[in-house]
This record gives sequence, C-alpha cells and structure tokens, in this order.
Amino acid sequence: MLPLIALGQELKSPDGDFTMQFKITDGKPFYELSLAGNPVIKASSLGFELVDMASLLSDFEVKNTTSSTFDETWEPVWGEQAKIRNHYNELLVELEQKATNRLMNIRFRLFDDGLGFRYEFPEQPNLIYFVIKEEKTQFALTGDHTAFWIPGDYDTQEYNYTKSKLSEIAGLMDKAVTPNVSQKPFSKNGVQTSLMLKTDDGTYINIHEAALVEYSCMHLEVNPENFVLESHLTPDAEGRKGYMQAPRTTPWRTVMASKNAGDILLSGLTLNLNEPTKFEDTSWIKPVKYIGVWWEMITGKSTWSYTNFPSVKLGETDFENATPNGTHAANNEKVKRYIDFAAEHGFSQILVEGWNVGWEDWIGKSKDYVFDFLTPYPDFDVVMLRDYAKSKGVQLMMHHETSGSIRNYERFMDKAYQFMVDNNYNSVKSGYVGNIIPRGETHYGQWLVNHYQYAIEKAAEYKIMVNAHEAVRPTGLSRTYPNLIGNESARGTEYEAFGGNTPDHTTILPFTRLIGGPMDYTPGVFETDMTKLNPNNKSRVNTTLARQLALYVTMYSPLQMAADLPEHYEQHLDAFQFIKDVAIDWDTSLVLEAEPGDFITYARKEKGADNWFVGRTNDEEPRTSKISFDFLDKGREYVATIYSDAKDAHFATNPKAYEIKKFRVSSKSKLTQACAPGGGYAISIVPVKDKSETRGLKRL
Ligand code: NOJ
Ligand code: CA
Repeated sequence: MLPLIALGQELKSPDGDFTMQFKITDGKPFYELSLAGNPVIKASSLGFELVDMASLLSDFEVKNTTSSTFDETWEPVWGEQAKIRNHYNELLVELEQKATNRLMNIRFRLFDDGLGFRYEFPEQPNLIYFVIKEEKTQFALTGDHTAFWIPGDYDTQEYNYTKSKLSEIAGLMDKAVTPNVSQKPFSKNGVQTSLMLKTDDGTYINIHEAALVEYSCMHLEVNPENFVLESHLTPDAEGRKGYMQAPRTTPWRTVMASKNAGDILLSGLTLNLNEPTKFEDTSWIKPVKYIGVWWEMITGKSTWSYTNFPSVKLGETDFENATPNGTHAANNEKVKRYIDFAAEHGFSQILVEGWNVGWEDWIGKSKDYVFDFLTPYPDFDVVMLRDYAKSKGVQLMMHHETSGSIRNYERFMDKAYQFMVDNNYNSVKSGYVGNIIPRGETHYGQWLVNHYQYAIEKAAEYKIMVNAHEAVRPTGLSRTYPNLIGNESARGTEYEAFGGNTPDHTTILPFTRLIGGPMDYTPGVFETDMTKLNPNNKSRVNTTLARQLALYVTMYSPLQMAADLPEHYEQHLDAFQFIKDVAIDWDTSLVLEAEPGDFITYARKEKGADNWFVGRTNDEEPRTSKISFDFLDKGREYVATIYSDAKDAHFATNPKAYEIKKFRVSSKSKLTQACAPGGGYAISIVPVKDKSETRGLKRL
C-alpha cells in the first residue's frame, strides 16, 4: 500500500557518517538509522499504548520541526576521561494527534557514535495525567545478529551472559537462567539492556537507555522472525508501566554503532544525554579504593549475624544478653585488623557488613522492618572504631542492607545518614536483596526507580556517596549526581563464591552493564579455591590471579575494592603491589584490543599524573595479545612492570601461576603477551625519574 502521507526529515551526525530519517507514514511516526550508507535500524515505529485512553500510535501529523547543533566539552568529577566532548546535531519533531489534539514531541540527537531520542509531552489541555500501558518503541534490526544477552527480568540482573543469534534466544532461555536464584524471565524472548549486538559483516551495535528518571526500566522483546526489538517497560503491582503528568519527558533510547568495538566502550553518548550536575560543590566526592569485612561472609566462612537464628527472639534487639554464634565477622578485633591493613597498604576505606542488628530477623520478618541502620551489635563499637580509624588516617564505609523494604529505608533515611555524618562515614554501600516490600513492586519499576533517585539526592544533602547494589542498572545518571559512585546491578565477583561466573564474563560486562556507569565488581580475589575459606563451599573463581589484577583497569570504576582477605594478600605481596599502585581516576582511556566475549585490553593514564596502567581480560581460550606502547609520551623513558599469567596458568587448574617482569619502555615499545584461558595481564608504567631505576632492565 502506498503511504498516504510521507513527510521525511533527515538528520546527520556531525562527522556525516550517521543518517537518521524521521517520517510519518499513514499517520504513524517512524525513524531509521544508517551508518556510512548501511542501515543499522530499519524503519521503526514509535509511540505508546495508554491505560483507559486512546493510544498515541497513529493519526499524527508534524506540526513543526527544529534543527540545531550543540558542541561543548565538559569535565566530569571523576571518570574515564578528564574531558568529554558532547557534540551532536538535533532534530525536534513536534507531533499532533489529529482527532484528539494531543501533542507528543520526539527529540533526536545524533552524535558521531550513535543516536539518542526521547519522547516529550509538553504542557497541554488534552493530555495532563496519563498512565502508560506499554511503550511501543521499535528497533528494527537488519538481520539475525549475534547478541550478548541476559534474560529480561524485573528483579535481577545477576546473570551470566549468553552469546547467541537473536533467533536462538527463546531456545536458550531456560539454560540462561541459573538454578538456585530467584530469576524469573518475563518472556521467552525478553532481554535486558544494555544489549550488545554484532552483525555478520562486523558492525557492533549497542542498545540502551540514558537518564532513567521517574520512569520504568526498559527491557526489549525480540521478534525472532523479523528481528524487530520492541520496548517492554517494567510493570508495577497493577501491571501498569508509568504514571505521567505533562510536561514530562521519557528517558533517552540509545543506539550506538561502529565497525570498531572499542568505539562502543569509549563512547560518551550515555553520559552526554544526561543533565550536567546540579551540585555546586563537588569537592566532597572522591574516588575510593577500599577493602572490607565482606568476602568471608560471602564465601560462608563467617556470618553477618551475631547469634544463631533464632536465639534472639525475633523482633527484639536484646543482643547484650544473647549468646554469640562465634562466627560474627564484624567484631571490634577483626575490624581493627582491617583498619591496620588498610592504613598500611594505602586503602582509604573499610567496608564493614553485618555491623548492625537485624540479620537474624531476615527470614522471620516478625516486625514490619528488619533494619534500623542505627543499632550496632554489641561487639561492634561504633565510636571506638570511628576514632581508631581516624587515628590511622582511614575511614569506615557504611553498609545499609534494606532487605528490599523500601518505605522502611525511607522512614529511617535521615537518621541513618545523620548517624553516618556523626560517625565520620562519607560513603554507603546500600543493597536491595530479596523481593521488594510492598509485595508486587519490583526492582526496576517506576516506584523503585524513584526510590533509588531519592536515596541519591538525600545522600547528597549529607555529602554522602552511594554505591547501590541490586538497584536498577545505571543510565549515566552519575553525570548529574556524581555522588552515585558505584552500582552493582549485574553479576559481580560474589557469584564466584556462589557457583562461578563464566570465564568470558568480564569480556562482556564493559560492553553491556558498564555502558550506563561504573560497577562495584569487587575484584582482587587471590585465593581462588573457596574450600580454603569454607570447606562446604565448592565454588571456584573462574579467572587466573593475573586477570584479577587486570580487572582494576578493564572494569572501570571510581570505587574499587580489594575483595580478598588480608591474609591472602600477605601471601602474594608482590602481585598485591599492582592493586596498591593502580589509579582509580583517569585523564585518558584507550582501548587497545577488544572483541565482546573474547578479550579487552585497555590503557589508561592516571588523572593528574604521568603513570599509565594497562589491563587485559581474556575469555576461556588461550590467546596472544599484541599491543604497542605508542600512547606514551614520545622520547620519554618509563619502567613497565608486567604482571602476567605464567606459561602453565589456567583458570581451572592452575590459577595462581603468575609472573612479574620489569622492562624499560618508550613509545616505540611493543609487547606480545600470551594470555591463559580465563587469564589476562596487568601493567603499571611509570616514567623514569632517575637513570638508576632502569639499571639492568631490558628494553621492550
Ligand atoms: C548482596 C550484595 O551484592 C552483597 O555485596 C552483600 O554483601 C549482600 N547483598 C548482603 O547485603
Ligand atoms: Ca548482589
């Protein structure tokens, strides 16, 4: 059928490589995207189904269009680059639905690395309050691309990735769901974003969202026949997907594409689509390298709780008279030892989990809340530990496990943050384990998205930095709220103690989860055999020790943990040196080698210093990495310390076999380095100040 009206508008990226076309066909809005003349997204429709109201899908006409250009360079408070260029061409299309006179605008921004677009509902008489039944945004792909996906789920992102063709997703869905964890995919063809794709002719495509504010998290429903992906918003307890009041905008929908995988990793598009920070003073926000009383609970060596459940009557906090279980990790003596270790090795903070009462009550839920975030167990002396840490020049990191009880956390939040200020804590790891209370709400619905946002903004009032676990995956909001210094929101290192992560996991995460922001992945596990910590835990860390070092470079975050126990680091102080040296804030980041699912090699220059760090993470295949040091200053000499897999290293059979070698390097140096299955390497590169430093060192 011939289109009744076909009104086309075209938008080009600043470098001219991308073209976005918008058109109305039979009253329906469509967009399409091409890169260097090749389609990336075919004609894809846009709009909404509404609850108890006519849909916003058709009968539209274009009232007005406006094009503009924007180019600025801004400086993030912390980041992978000291400066980020935000350069795009914009097309604003103002639509009116003819029969209802309702207005809906679509704003497109085309960058050199991809497209962002969002819906905007201006203030208007005929559309004020409305409820979204479903957003109907399509991403019509050109073929059966290879996808790196995790199942669509409203409550967890803690999956291993599956690599498959789009048409194979439904057949692999059951296998993709890890047993023993409460994972409930919403459909056979549903996947989460950020979704990483590769076409047969080698184009990398990434689909995600930016600036998820006051809206539900978007998943994608894949049509395995025509490869059209369609938005699937997270519903609330009533099955509704978004409560709106005009004027209002949606989050940005993003499509990045490149022939070079590294461009996806280095793209600033997600951050650029977020608003500049609203904070006038950001001097209190600082990257953090930390250790913690944590891994021993995760592995089951010790406990968060103080008593054996239920030796204290549920709902009571009479722990003074209770019998301790003898396995409570967060005790004064142990925390002091961690404080000493942090001070000795240059870590600024110590996370202590299980410091507060409530862990015994977790399952019983005898009262309407588990935690008050204020009451310590009797063997954790808040004031003494605060002062002891202060005397050593370090700080404790707060832990707020909310048990998913959202209103309870909000009820105590001001008191809990004030308690932190009073006791010299400036960062909190929060967590949302378990089904959300009230029941029926889920981790990624609009109500929870609003809560996470509230927690970040409230924390900022107290100058507190937030690292939220189990919260919705990030969408670049740390540009606006730079006190959001970390999130988990994916399968982290903890799963190495719960059955293991696939050896290629960290070659995929930077292409998926990290597109939206940093991850508190908690690397640095040197003792890979969990039975050494807990004889009943048969899990194994599926990486070599050298690769654990590389993760400090490949898993970008301004918040980095050394997750293992001090006694394990003390057995390998030579390798531990890399974790002590590695920077956590950067002037420049480069991708030297990258293929999702196979390997990634980054080089990064420390912020405000001339040191460089290189990290390489490898999948389950033995591979050879070849890099050039041409990123170094010309004519300058450096000492490179290479921490690599030994010849016979293997993640499964010989993970702790590593080598440390030093070389003289310059911008002309090249390295060919073998990487073990599940392995990798890390390099620190420091400019030579005195000739004596290079004595006896070979040139690379
Ligand atoms: C899950 C978090 O990811 C983990 O780091 C934390 O220790 C537990 N929840 C307990 O809060
Ligand atoms: Ca978790």
